Amino acid sequence: MEKTKEMTEVIHLFKKLFSTDPEFAVKSPGRVDLMGSHTDYNHGYVVTMPIDLKIECAFSLCEGNVLTMYSCNLDSTVKIDIKTGDIIEGDDWGKYVSAVVKVVLDEGYDLKAFNSVFCSTIPIGSGLSSSAALEATVLAMLCKVSGFEIDKKNSALLTQKAENKYVGVNCGILDQYSVIFGEKRSVIKLDCRELTHKLVSWPKDIMIAICNTNKARQLHGSEYDERRAQCEEAVAEFAKIDSNIKALRDVGIVFFHKHKDKLSVNAAKRAQFIIEENNRTHELEAALCNGEVDKLKDIFNRSFVGARDLFEISNDAMQSMYESMSSARGVVASRQAGAGFGGCMASLVYKDQLEDFKTDVFNKYKELTGIECQIYGVHTHQGTSIESIKSFETV
Ligand code: GLA
Repeated sequence: MEKTKEMTEVIHLFKKLFSTDPEFAVKSPGRVDLMGSHTDYNHGYVVTMPIDLKIECAFSLCEGNVLTMYSCNLDSTVKIDIKTGDIIEGDDWGKYVSAVVKVVLDEGYDLKAFNSVFCSTIPIGSGLSSSAALEATVLAMLCKVSGFEIDKKNSALLTQKAENKYVGVNCGILDQYSVIFGEKRSVIKLDCRELTHKLVSWPKDIMIAICNTNKARQLHGSEYDERRAQCEEAVAEFAKIDSNIKALRDVGIVFFHKHKDKLSVNAAKRAQFIIEENNRTHELEAALCNGEVDKLKDIFNRSFVGARDLFEISNDAMQSMYESMSSARGVVASRQAGAGFGGCMASLVYKDQLEDFKTDVFNKYKELTGIECQIYGVHTHQGTSIESIKSFETV
């Protein structure tokens, strides 16, 4: 594992706070989805990429029943009772830590406590899976100090359950799977029904730029649940016609157009988007596999227009960002990312024009909205992994 500036800082702070050296380091990436918005809970596919905006954390087993985590970014400490998962002390982000402890306790594991310090470069609540990265980090630390292992698939399912059951966000599997299964130097195509993935080839001269609209999104209590319910409403209607239909993944576009008048206006719009978006994941994979870079812009554009007009998860800030990204130098293709409703968006950009792209997007978006945005050139990153701190000293 590479010893980054953040990891050096985290180790230093750990020594200062706990008067001893940490034993282990854990890293968890964020993720950006490149195609397949809201297809995960419809049992479809997502082309997704774990990124090098990430959590870096140092930790050690400690005596007693109180788990402690200190966040460098927020200058905030959370303490959790590992026998109950209850928060003893801490800010809002403690709910993610508590949720993971609670699902692991529900599975019947006996937990030991740890002390930890972490730093995150993932912008919080902006659609890059900052919460899934935190959940995966906590689970990895609990397993390590308590002396048991949970495989990757069950880790993804457990952290998703933590978010569903104890945080109260009814998300699909995309975030947790991407963060845990990420592979270095690879974009993956995730099959959300089978919970498997394959690697997708990637052009050497193109990279991803993430553009933060700086319009915070809030999934909890939002329209996310309403979109899910409308998709389920469409499935229930279509299942009356064909009992093999269990999710929108099972619906072809010809069948959809033949029977769409059975659906409410909104359910029909949502279903059309999901069916077309799922097909676009296959189109994107084929274009990348065949080196057809000229096809990418159109595939991405259709995804954004569908998200805006059919799934209705765009807003003014996203529209302005889309225009800024699409007209910038070096751009190949642009679309939304994450759940939508603000947050971050993603462009494919020629590597040697990243700086021009950043300048153009920053200026245009400011001109259109008055908001200063952040733009990050990102690379793929390995999924959640643990190393001994000693391994850094030998590098
Ligand atoms: C959020 C959810 C995911 C997924 C995306 C939209 O990130 O957590 O499960 O539904 O939105 O694709």
